[in-house]
Amino acid sequence: LWTPAKIIEDQIARVRDQVGDRHVLLGLSGGVDSSVVAALLHRAIGDQLTCVFVDNGLLRKNEGGQVMETFAKHMGVKVIRVDAEALFLDKLKGVADPEAKRKAIGNTFIEVFDDEASKIEGVDFLAQGTIYPDVIESAASKTGKAHVIKSHHNVGGLPETMKLKLVEPLRELFKDEVRRLGVELGLPYDMVYRHPFPGPGLGVRILGEVKKEYADILREADAIFIEELHNADWYHKTSQAFAVFLPVKSVGVVGDGRRYEWVIALRAVETIDFMTARWAHLPYELLEKVSNRIINEIAGVSRVTYDVSSKPPATIEWE
Ligand code: XMP
Repeated sequence: LWTPAKIIEDQIARVRDQVGDRHVLLGLSGGVDSSVVAALLHRAIGDQLTCVFVDNGLLRKNEGGQVMETFAKHMGVKVIRVDAEALFLDKLKGVADPEAKRKAIGNTFIEVFDDEASKIEGVDFLAQGTIYPDVIESAASKTGKAHVIKSHHNVGGLPETMKLKLVEPLRELFKDEVRRLGVELGLPYDMVYRHPFPGPGLGVRILGEVKKEYADILREADAIFIEELHNADWYHKTSQAFAVFLPVKSVGVVGDGRRYEWVIALRAVETIDFMTARWAHLPYELLEKVSNRIINEIAGVSRVTYDVSSKPPATIEWE
């Protein structure tokens, strides 16, 4: 009989058998899959697990803090947090093309991760949150979080200095099964049932060149949108929702003054498989509240729009 508890028990035995008393490295992103792997491996092998969490400066508001809080503080998992915002922003300077940005972010991630890994003595295994759909569509180019690290570290692609064997305890599971495992392992519900977040993060939600000023504004706008979706009980009725930064200036008024500031677009979709999606028919009152809060609370924004494009022909992300 399939139960989360049984799967966990089986995987713990398998991991212990595979790893013995050796050490495992895991790239922790804060997403569901790597989080569940972290919790599972921690239960299986405790201190033989070291996680590396790379803050690329393109994460959602408080994301790094939440990851450290959940794993390092509450669960006692060994997590190394690398603050690489400056490096990522530097690599993104002058890069405006979406695919070029994805490449720059992916390559920089590998560079930072490898660098961190090389400082840790005696690691023999690399754990990954590969799930069954990743295995099936591993050739597809534009999905699944740590695909960069996957293609990089997968058999044959390992750098010379890092001959690591793979530990992939979620390889046979679908997303909903992974989520149930996460809950069973005691991860916070909100972490396990969070909307997906792309590997390149805010990097593909800031149109064109990425700048720290834009990322800071977008983080605030996104946090307001998500908070209000939760307040209105709409978060879990949408499959993915986020704000997008448009590097376009628009005029507004505050009191007697005129302001000329940036534009934020809101995107929310309903979908089963993320291959097709319908824009979410959010209540006007909710959109009104989010719009007012964003314009009033964020100095650099003068206008908010709602994206009413479905997929196809539009994609979910704007880049
Ligand atoms: P699109 O924009 O292609 O998005 O309709 C479909 C789903 O894929 C996610 N997405 C990405 N995930 N790296 C990722 O890890 C990426 O480069 C990437 N691009 C899109 C998107 O958030 C949505 O869930």
